[in-house]
Amino acid sequence: VKHIVFGGAGFIGTNLCRRLLKTGSSILIVDNFSNSNPKNLPNSFGESLNVLNVDALDIHNNFEAIETFLDNDSLTVWQLAANSDIIKGVDDPVVDYRDTLGTTIASLQLVRNFATDTFVFSSSSAIYGDLKGLPVTEDFQKCLPISNYGLMKLASEQLIELHFSFVNSTKVRIYRFPNVIGLPLTHGVIKDLQRKLMTKPTFLDVLGDGNQTKPFMYVEDLIDAMLALNDIESNFEIFNIGPEDQGIAIRQVAEQLRNRFSPGTEIRYGSSQSGWQGDVPIYALNTSKSRGFGVKPMFDSSTAVKKVIEEIENSLK
Ligand SMILES: NC(=O)c1ccc[n+]([C@@H]2O[C@H](COP(=O)([O-])OP(=O)(O)OC[C@H]3O[C@@H](n4cnc5c(N)ncnc54)[C@H](O)[C@@H]3O)[C@@H](O)[C@H]2O)c1
Repeated sequence: VKHIVFGGAGFIGTNLCRRLLKTGSSILIVDNFSNSNPKNLPNSFGESLNVLNVDALDIHNNFEAIETFLDNDSLTVWQLAANSDIIKGVDDPVVDYRDTLGTTIASLQLVRNFATDTFVFSSSSAIYGDLKGLPVTEDFQKCLPISNYGLMKLASEQLIELHFSFVNSTKVRIYRFPNVIGLPLTHGVIKDLQRKLMTKPTFLDVLGDGNQTKPFMYVEDLIDAMLALNDIESNFEIFNIGPEDQGIAIRQVAEQLRNRFSPGTEIRYGSSQSGWQGDVPIYALNTSKSRGFGVKPMFDSSTAVKKVIEEIENSLK
């Protein structure tokens, strides 16, 4: 099987590609490096790793290169490309229209032209909107996203569902992720706070009152879950993926980071419940469906955060 990974140079993408390469797969990454750095790409895999440094929206101009790469082998497409900076998409809706929805449309253009065994989409808990911590199941019908990012992820899901309702030769997986963490972090609360703390500031300003509560999942656990769920016998499935707990407070994350990177700094919290416009302050995912298929993450939210803080510390040595 060959893999085409949209957004394969990003945080989750590079971790996924490394895993796939280790099992002997050939990969083509489609990424314009708008939120990633070529130095994070897996190395020493020779010809098994190919990179198409283009905007996903130009995929139709690159079909020749894709044909050469595929050489009639069967194909798995991973659509991981997106704008992962939710705040940026609040300021300018065009960002998510292009990079979150547009990249999904581009991945479907590819699928229309090349026989695809499996199609995987990285969706998000953001599609559910603000449910005040209700541990939501996959069949929830009243999704009201509160960010352009969440809205474009939901629209992507619906486009995928519509497209594949006419094609039943492809296995389709939509995975709704929680906060995913590990190295190399390209965005998110841990990266932001750690970067601020490296300057040893007198105060660390945290967006929101610190009581925002979110599930955190270690990236290798997420990849284990996706690979296992890709394998089950079913054509179309949507899964929440997440740790078994309901999450931890941002306050706890901020304190751990402060204690490691700048113990003398005082933490100052904001007054609003959410960190920024579009931030869902408290959310939880019901993951019993994926657990029913044997998914069992190694780390809970708290251990995952500790582990990643340690990894960041080691990477700075
Ligand atoms: N990390 C998380 O906590 C999390 C949570 C929920 C969902 N997701 C989703 O998982 C996927 C991967 O997330 P990530 O954390 O690795 O993000 P990331 O930003 O590190 O990776 C996204 C990649 O997509 C690329 N990209 C963006 N627009 C592109 C375009 N127009 N053409 C080509 N490449 C483009 C970026 O350069 C980047 O390499 C994303 O779809 C994201 O929305 C992530």
